[in-house]
Amino acid sequence: MKLTSKAAYQEAWAEALNSPEAFWDKVAKEYSWHKPWDKVCSGDFNSLDIKWFEGASLNITENCLDRHLETRGDKTAIIWEANDPNEKEICLTYKELHADVCRFSNVLKDQGVQKGDRVVFYMSMVPELLTGVLACARIGAIHSVVFGGFSAQALAGRVNDCEAKIVVTCDEAFRGGKTIALKAITDEALESCPGVEKVLVRERTGAKVTYKEGRDHKLMELLKDASTTCEPTEMNAEDPLFILYTSGSTGTPKGLMHTTAGYMVWAGFTFENVFQMEENDTYWCSADIGWITGHSYITYGPLLKGATTLMFEGVPTYPAADRFWDVIDKYKVTHFYTAPTAIRALMACDIELVRKHDLSSLKVLGSVGEPINEEAWEWYHKEVGKERCPIVDTWWQTETGGIMISSLAGVTESVPAHATLPMPGIQPLLVDAEGKEVSGSPAEGNLCIEKPWPGIARTIWGNHDRYKETYFTTYPGRYFTGDGAKRDSESRYRITGRVDDVINVSGHRIGTAEVEDAINEHENIIESAVVGFPHEIKGQGIYAYVICQDSSKIEGENIQKELNAHITKMIGPIAKADCVQVVSGLPKTRSGKIMRRILRKIAAKDTGDLGDISTLLNPEVVDEIKKGAGL
Ligand code: PRX
Repeated sequence: MKLTSKAAYQEAWAEALNSPEAFWDKVAKEYSWHKPWDKVCSGDFNSLDIKWFEGASLNITENCLDRHLETRGDKTAIIWEANDPNEKEICLTYKELHADVCRFSNVLKDQGVQKGDRVVFYMSMVPELLTGVLACARIGAIHSVVFGGFSAQALAGRVNDCEAKIVVTCDEAFRGGKTIALKAITDEALESCPGVEKVLVRERTGAKVTYKEGRDHKLMELLKDASTTCEPTEMNAEDPLFILYTSGSTGTPKGLMHTTAGYMVWAGFTFENVFQMEENDTYWCSADIGWITGHSYITYGPLLKGATTLMFEGVPTYPAADRFWDVIDKYKVTHFYTAPTAIRALMACDIELVRKHDLSSLKVLGSVGEPINEEAWEWYHKEVGKERCPIVDTWWQTETGGIMISSLAGVTESVPAHATLPMPGIQPLLVDAEGKEVSGSPAEGNLCIEKPWPGIARTIWGNHDRYKETYFTTYPGRYFTGDGAKRDSESRYRITGRVDDVINVSGHRIGTAEVEDAINEHENIIESAVVGFPHEIKGQGIYAYVICQDSSKIEGENIQKELNAHITKMIGPIAKADCVQVVSGLPKTRSGKIMRRILRKIAAKDTGDLGDISTLLNPEVVDEIKKGAGL
């Protein structure tokens, strides 16, 4: 259902609100099903047994691939651009992609993978990551992609949590001018993962890596000999499709589980309506498949809608800071979707790097992952979109499966730094700290969602209580996003950022508790408190306050290096601290809770009023911390 006018959007929003069953019934009928549903939706945010299209059966890959073979078989499905611009690209038509996915499916089956088994992918952005994910979906295995920047320990934690039977990796990854030793990291991780039976290795750099007899196999050799036909496994609507780990305020990363039919309908519907592509357009989302954006808007969304989707192995600054513009020019990209952090980084470079490229193919620009500031929005609009292209600022989360609040390109209005309007099926509401709805407009509050939508994650893998506790207990009966938002006088939303203990660094979600755990592992650290602070390029940076056992042992820059080495080992380089301050104590309430509000203000070099500190157990540390921070 493509909504191509503002009136159609408004009508759809109202219909999805008033008659959700009839509305989603219509949307879902666009796809192929083995068996139709008995009931469109059931369950709510109290019972938390949410189900969509119950009773139906399908296979999502038939909708991504087989369904297009007759009409679009020879159309390019995927364009793969290598890290090195001199390496030849790979283009696969829908027919070829279908054959490759079948090959991979047969390899997985030969390796003993069965319906419901978990397969972890720890790879760089090679075509086999995308075909592998789809192969899992074809045979009913559950994929869990772990971003290639995570450490051995982080990988092991995820592999064990989902009890994966098989891990697919590369010998090494190319990443700009560097390589990442993915297989060596996998080997280290698997020392503590006894459940893994097989490892498939996609050779990429040709580095010499060790192969463990019986366990490890060369993926490309297996694929070469595999058959190009594989009947899709019939899946129930609520059978799991994938698990994706993300960080929260507390504890270890959570494995959000998405199921088949609802996710499919949501990914397809949001992709079609937000981006408004035409048949011959070329779409490029610069995310990594290791994150939800790469699942919904490189893989499933575009393929469900028969689009041409570009997959990029490299980074925006390699070999030079005009790589994005070069790729857009090379493939005449029409729809470009990236993160504010990339925009800010590129905006700081010589403007000629943008201007020397022909970007006239562009029609629509997208932003995702973090709030986009006005300056970055204006620059993107003017220098990249040449003031011709609408910008869709898409707010959503790993948990939501797809875009929740965004303008529809060229259909509803784009407003600088505003995500704007909810998708049909989404009822956002703002609540105050007590959980009371803040009605009217303009307004500001914590962002909640009133009712289930098809794409919501159904549970946290293996821990339904944690799912309930994390999202539905702060404001009972509502889904709490963890974000704050403002609503303007025309009911358009602007997301202001996380209001919990999650930091958004370059669009990556980092839990402060995870970083603290890593820091506290250091033998010389007694306690730590980690907060976010405004960072010009990354959006937020990581600021760590630490109490040392013996501060004479590690001082100055050394401590930052040592702690970052620890963080890199336990989580990965993306969680490194930008600033470390040694303190003698942390401001605590009488009940022993760290007053992060104060630490956030100091980290932000905010010299204003710190609020009431008289209730602190140790108010004297505040002055010391301020002094130490140079305030
Ligand atoms: O804080 C919001 C921010 O990213 C968080 C979700 O992160 P993740 O699950 O990793 O998914 C990122 C890609 C969808 C949100 O809670 N966020 C995401 N998009 C936006 C955003 N903040 C402001 N504006 C956005 N467009």
